Amino acid sequence: MTPYTVTPKQSPTTKGEKDPPALRGGLPLIGHTRAFVRDTVGLLQRTHDECGAVGKLKLLGKDIILFTGPEAHEALFRQPDRVLSPNAAYKMMVPVFGEGVAYGAEPSRMAEQMHMLYPALRNNRMRTYTEIVARETLDTLASWGDEGEIEASEFFAMLTNYTSSSCLLGKEFRNEMSEEFAKVYHDLERGIVAWGYIHPYLPIPAFRRRDRARARLGEMVSEIVEARKRSGYRGEDFLQTLMDAAYADGQRLTDHEVTGMLVAAMFAGHHTSAVTTAWTLLELLRHPRFLGEVRDEIRDRYAKKESYSFQSLRDLEKTEGAVKEALRIHPPLFILLRAAVQDCEILGYRVKKGNWVAVSPLVAHRDEATFENALQFDPMRYEPGREEDKRPFAYISFGGGRHKCMGNAFALLQIKTIMAVLLHRYDFELLGDAIATDFQGLVLGPKPPIRLRYRRHGQSPVRR
Ligand code: HEM
Repeated sequence: MTPYTVTPKQSPTTKGEKDPPALRGGLPLIGHTRAFVRDTVGLLQRTHDECGAVGKLKLLGKDIILFTGPEAHEALFRQPDRVLSPNAAYKMMVPVFGEGVAYGAEPSRMAEQMHMLYPALRNNRMRTYTEIVARETLDTLASWGDEGEIEASEFFAMLTNYTSSSCLLGKEFRNEMSEEFAKVYHDLERGIVAWGYIHPYLPIPAFRRRDRARARLGEMVSEIVEARKRSGYRGEDFLQTLMDAAYADGQRLTDHEVTGMLVAAMFAGHHTSAVTTAWTLLELLRHPRFLGEVRDEIRDRYAKKESYSFQSLRDLEKTEGAVKEALRIHPPLFILLRAAVQDCEILGYRVKKGNWVAVSPLVAHRDEATFENALQFDPMRYEPGREEDKRPFAYISFGGGRHKCMGNAFALLQIKTIMAVLLHRYDFELLGDAIATDFQGLVLGPKPPIRLRYRRHGQSPVRR
């Protein structure tokens, strides 16, 4: 048995079982809730600093056990859903994706649904997506002059919304329903609030708007599905993949399930990619040496007007290193949760049914025991000879094990394409103060406003 094998608990006196060390300073009843609300990441970091690889904190009467370090991550990520369940931990997402879809389905059903996405993530599809992302970025840049200013958070959120909705939802949403889609999507997002952890169907305005938006989105998807069936049009997008998919017993997805899966893919991939694109550019601007290397790689590659092909983008190693490093230092999903649905033992520690267990990519990636000079932005750590991302379960921006991100290749390609198009044409300068992380919300990004000045490559600065 390896040291990180998990075994369902046999008896209360199982040899070697002990309680995880508890973080000091919790108050009666509410535990560490106040510190969690004030400074979530600080609290997680303190748990690791005080308790080590395994530490326990208390939130609203619930024990949360934080696992940090490659061995601890592996022990957690390798657990079957019948022991540690993401579905039970992410219940607040069920009304957003829909009952019976993803976290709202039985684990085996969810696994089948996730499997249905694979054809949409194969290389032949990636070629199409690359063209779409490059075209969308070029179209957006068409309104830029030789020099100007943008607010980076808003710009990258808008751009990845166009690219993701084209690739995932298809051209109908992108072209004909884009305005209404933006509204319903916004209402769905605004329905993800902390109250959802208490009960996802409380009668509050945010949840009522969320449910109306989900119902309307279902109607919009049904209209498009019907129109596609009538016209015989076949898209090269996630929507088509899901329309063509079937369960092992031959049953097709219902429109409700298709809608839920599309929403799940949008939620998984939209903000995460938007903030990572912003962080990549910002970190490069803060590190001129790496910016120079990335810019030279891009400008050499596309100097002869080579198109932004899948192949040419796939080989942009310096650019990919920068994206990976931005993701390591600023993992957008800073906490990944599971709920224990039976008593078990992990790394020799007792985990009781009803406990939540967590890993924090943010805390893990700052650990000097795993990453040399962990706080330093150093894209070279992924180059041959170092390859720090290859150590199993050390680099966990995309999670790990059976629920590892399915869209990681798509995300990297999308961000590299945007960076290539931008840096091929423009130089950027960060205006204003240093950028902090925005800790509001479930996806961490750089705190707006982030003012950037762009100048077409080769233009001298305009005199003012
Ligand atoms: C930079 C962008 C992205 C980041 C940082 C990211 C991160 C993650 C992480 C950490 C998980 C694991 C969650 C957990 O274990 O609780 C995950 C799961 C997932 N991601 Fe991503 N993701 C990104 C982009 C995408 C995109 C673009 C898609 C779809 C096109 C996608 C689809 C998914 C799906 C379907 C899952 C659930 C897999 C499962 O539970 O079996 N992600 N992602």
